[in-house]
This record gives sequence, C-alpha cells and structure tokens, in this order.
Amino acid sequence: MRISVPNETASGETRVAATPETVRKLAALGGRVVVQAGAGVKSGIPDSEFAAAGAEIEPSLAATMAGADLVLGVRRPDAGSLQGVARGAGVLAIMDPYGADAALKGLADAGVSAFAMELMPRITRAQSMDVLSSQANLAGYRAVVDGAGEYGRALPMMMTAAGTVPAARIFIMGVGVAGLQAIATARRMGAIVTATDVRPATKEQVESLGAKFLAVEDEEFAQAQTAGGYAKEMSKEYQAKQAALTASHIAKQDIVVTTALIPGRPAPKLISTEMVNSMRPGSVIVDLAVERGGNCELAKPDQIVVTENGVRIIGYPNLAGRIPATASSLYARNLLAFAETLIDKESKTFAPNWDDELVKATLLTRDGAVTHPNFVPKTQS
Ligand code: NAI
Repeated sequence: MRISVPNETASGETRVAATPETVRKLAALGGRVVVQAGAGVKSGIPDSEFAAAGAEIEPSLAATMAGADLVLGVRRPDAGSLQGVARGAGVLAIMDPYGADAALKGLADAGVSAFAMELMPRITRAQSMDVLSSQANLAGYRAVVDGAGEYGRALPMMMTAAGTVPAARIFIMGVGVAGLQAIATARRMGAIVTATDVRPATKEQVESLGAKFLAVEDEEFAQAQTAGGYAKEMSKEYQAKQAALTASHIAKQDIVVTTALIPGRPAPKLISTEMVNSMRPGSVIVDLAVERGGNCELAKPDQIVVTENGVRIIGYPNLAGRIPATASSLYARNLLAFAETLIDKESKTFAPNWDDELVKATLLTRDGAVTHPNFVPKTQS
C-alpha cells in the first residue's frame, strides 16, 4: 500500500499532511510512505527527517503520486495531480466542497475516493479525527498572539519603578472552539477578558475560563443552539439588540477577536464601521471569520486594514497556518486516526468499510461519481 504526501500548492499554505511521527505509524500499518521533496519545509520538517522516519522522498509530484493507494493532503488536490494514482485510491484532505462542483467532478473523473475531513461528524469516536477543532483551537491561540503583536502596548498589568501599566481589555465575539482558546490565551497573557455568544451553553464555559460573559439573554438566545451544537442565524431584532449592547463595550476595548460563524451561511456582521470608528487609536480587531465574509464590516482577507482613526483590522485567512509546525503535527494525527479506520490490518490494504458512518459522512466521490448526498450534481444520473 503506497501512501503519498504531495507538496501543498495553495498560496499561503504552510502545513503538511504528515509528520515523521505519523510516517512511522503509517509504515507500521503496512504503508510505503512517499513524501514529495520539500513538502515539510514550511512546517520545519526537512526531507531528511521524513527519510529517517522511513519515508521515500521523491523529487517530483508525478513520481510522488504514481501508483498511490492513499493520498494525504491539507487542501483539496487538483484533479490533474491525481492522474497517476491507483484506481480507486483514497484522498484525504480539507476539501472545501461547497460551491466547488467543477472540482468535485474532477475528483470523481480521476476515479478517486475523496474524503472531506471537515465533514467528520462531531461524535466521541471521531474526536481524534476532528480537523476543524484541532485547527480552530490553534487559530484562536494565534489570533490573540497576532493581535498582541499589532497592539502597541503590553497586555498584562505591570507595576514598575517607572509607573504602572494597565492591563489590556480583550473582547472575544463567538465562543466556539477558536473563541474558547482565544479566551484562555488572552487570560494567560494577563488581559482583562470578556466574551459573547448567542448559544446559552457558552456562558458557563466563558465563566469557567475566568472571563466575563456579555450577551442579550432573551427568549431567542435560549433557543439559539441547534441540535448539532451550532448557532442559528439570529433575527434582525436580536441583531439590533446585540449591536446596541456590544457597541459601547467595543468602544472601550483594546483588542477584539471575532470568531462567529453559522454553518452554511455568511458570517454574521457584528462590528460595523461606526463601532470600529468608536475604538481608540492603536486598538486592534482580529477577524477569524474573514474567509466567510468577516464579522467586521471593514475586514479584508490577507490584509491588515488601518483605519483613519488608527484601528488595525487583521484579516489573515489561515491563522492555523501561521503556526505551521504545531498545526501540521495535530492535523497529521487527525489524518492518521482516520486512515487507521480505512486500512485493513490483515491484508494491509486501503479497504474502507463503506457502511461506516464516518466514511458515509465524509466521502465525496467514488467509482467515477460524486456520491455525497449534499453535493450530487442535479444532472448526474
Ligand atoms: P463555529 O465555528 O460554527 O462558530 C463559532 C462560534 O460563533 C459558535 O460558538 C457560535 O455560537 C458563535 N456565533 C454564531 N453566530 C453568532 C453571533 N451572531 N454572535 C455571537 N456569536 C455567534 O463553532 P465551532 O467552534 O465549530 O463549535 C460549534 C459547536 O460544536 C460547539 O457547540 C462546540 O462545543 C461543538 N463541538 C463539539 C465537538 C465534539 O463533540 N466532538 C468538537 C468541537 C466542537
């Protein structure tokens, strides 16, 4: 069983889908692991470390992919790169399948079984395979580190011979996986932390991390969590009440980190231009939702926008990729955990159980067709 790890080609992608640790474990499962030269460099893993772990290093993409039974990637590979793989090979990656019909057709035409790691169900058995959580946690951490880096003052209170430095005020909007880690990080760095969310369950989580919770706690708030644990899109009335409550609070903050998302919808707009303009010069906003349209009206992907009044708005799309070594090590373990369930231990071959709920939830294409019910094109017979 040949397991291939190609170089990531998406711009700004620093992560790699395997590490020396996972290469060793994949080899123990019967895999011959082939890593494209340079695949780990941006994550601080030289080819020599992969080779020492038992990987074969191939100089070209074509040689890396040739005859692959399983391909491990961070981002969805383009169909052209899959030409030499074995018929029915598995491809595990973050596939970003929404609105990507042509790319999914390309994967189907390449004859591969493509698995979208981000569709992994959030059930106990699959926790170790949950790439959204492993990467969002790091993004939340990095958001606070980046925010602190752009902020021209210290975060903790300091009592020095030259006088006292006050603690910075940090407000976290959206308290899912990323927001919880952002709270914990900001607290460890000595800031005074407040947080908001629309799901009632978050109140206790925020308080247990030593931060203060702030939200419009009306009847709609009480119903805001779906059965799946996600937020619903809130009514216009609720949004207006939320804006009224948070506006005066935001004006007093030094750093605001926004992480609010609603599955399948654009990110809710939580910070208006007016709110940005109410902040003091030197304040910082870090918008983690920038890829989905942003929580802040003025955020732009890949940019630090500096407003006329001197507020800096950070819009890095791939924050986990800004700590590539840690992000790769956790992501690679997520892939390994899933790959273990797809490999037959006796025959040491790629042999998924097509009835397994994890396979059903993540499988996008198989045998030349797009098979996932959410993505089957209307014209496919
Ligand atoms: P997410 O990335 O979809 O959203 C981030 C946060 O934004 C959520 O907390 C959401 O409530 C909040 N939000 C949405 N609209 C908002 C608004 N208008 N104002 C303020 N906040 C708003 O969420 P994530 O991080 O994926 O977590 C979703 C759920 O999944 C949580 O309940 C989490 O505890 C749960 N989860 C369960 C896991 C498991 O059981 N294995 C693993 C990871 C998360």
